[in-house]
Amino acid sequence: MNKQNILVTGGAGFIGSEVIRQLVNDPSKHVVNFDKLTYAGNLENLKSVEHQENYSFVKGDICDEELLKKVFSEHNIAKVIHLAAESHVDRSILEPLLFVKTNLIGTANLLNVAKTHWNGDFENKLFYHISTDEVYGSLDFGTDLFSETTPYDPRSPYSASKAGSDHLVRSYYHTFGLPVVISNCSNNYGPFQFPEKLIPLCINNILNNKPLPIYGKGENIRDWLYVGDHANAIITILENGEKGETYNIGGDNEWSNLELVKILCRTIDEKLDRNVGESEKLITFVKDRAGHDLRYAIDANKIKNDLGWSPQYQFEEGIKLTVDWYLDQAEWLENITSGSYKTYYQKQYG
Ligand code: NAD
Ligand code: TYD
Repeated sequence: MNKQNILVTGGAGFIGSEVIRQLVNDPSKHVVNFDKLTYAGNLENLKSVEHQENYSFVKGDICDEELLKKVFSEHNIAKVIHLAAESHVDRSILEPLLFVKTNLIGTANLLNVAKTHWNGDFENKLFYHISTDEVYGSLDFGTDLFSETTPYDPRSPYSASKAGSDHLVRSYYHTFGLPVVISNCSNNYGPFQFPEKLIPLCINNILNNKPLPIYGKGENIRDWLYVGDHANAIITILENGEKGETYNIGGDNEWSNLELVKILCRTIDEKLDRNVGESEKLITFVKDRAGHDLRYAIDANKIKNDLGWSPQYQFEEGIKLTVDWYLDQAEWLENITSGSYKTYYQKQYG
């Protein structure tokens, strides 16, 4: 059987590894995971699939043109799912140029290698760029939603670098006819997320009786989607998305940061038979993030109506699965947190 060869960049990260775990279930596909293994990339995330015959790994940087050209040729790549990125807003405040390099220049390099390799033969080819709702900026409290036609208004170096990469992808569609598709998703949570992002950071700190740093008043709102639902949306768009189109992906699931952290505290108190309210005592209000976006919320009707996707995990179920996973994965957490890794807050304020 002639397999379809798919290059997944950033496949050793949180979302990329879930996409790969789902993709390799289809024996008609061969998945090449291309990842630099930065602090956020962890091959332990792929232990369950690493021996599968339709999976390969290449360690590399998306800024490395020669290596990418070699991989496209050797594996005869037909489709790209581009997830590799620097993904944490706090780090983008500390190191903005790294975000420009990876997210903007890396994406430009990957686009150019795909265009050169396919050389005008675009039949059954696809460049699928994974992006974020943060490109649309910040909403006020209320009921407004980001839709696919909301003007871009990125406000952090992270979201600006992702916005720039989205523009580059669209420019290759309009200028060179490269078959592209883009999706912009809200905040993900679930197993294998690096414990610098709010949910795994708080789970880890609750388990270790450490302070739970809440930026500002904890009133900022995010829409949360279970990572398995995002990966499923990505595969739906890979198979059926319209070339040149953008799809917003979200969970219709808005929580303020304070509400969310309290849910985590209650869930873990219950699991560990702690006294009710014990973990909430760890909540600590700290200096706000610079340029902290107030609210993100998504209108996901296009992907629901056009492609028939909808989230399968209720929030309560997703949070329980996530907490259970982190409770079971003491070793995974230990391997990560024992490294030189420090949170943004620790770096800034000691
Ligand atoms: P992550 O930080 O967990 O993983 C990023 C992966 O990219 C890591 O494996 C890392 O090693 C790799 N990488 C980084 N720089 C690279 C380079 N120069 N070359 C090759 N590989 C490199 O990120 P994630 O949360 O899984 O996010 C994946 C993608 O989804 C990103 O593009 C992000 O912008 C987007 N996204 C994330 C969320 C979210 O809530 N996490 C929401 C919407 C969109
Ligand atoms: P994060 O997980 O970093 O995702 P993003 O900034 O991409 O939305 O943060 C989610 C929200 O939680 C955001 O409003 C910032 C806030 N936050 C805290 O209050 N404390 C923390 O320690 C972290 C990491 C985030």
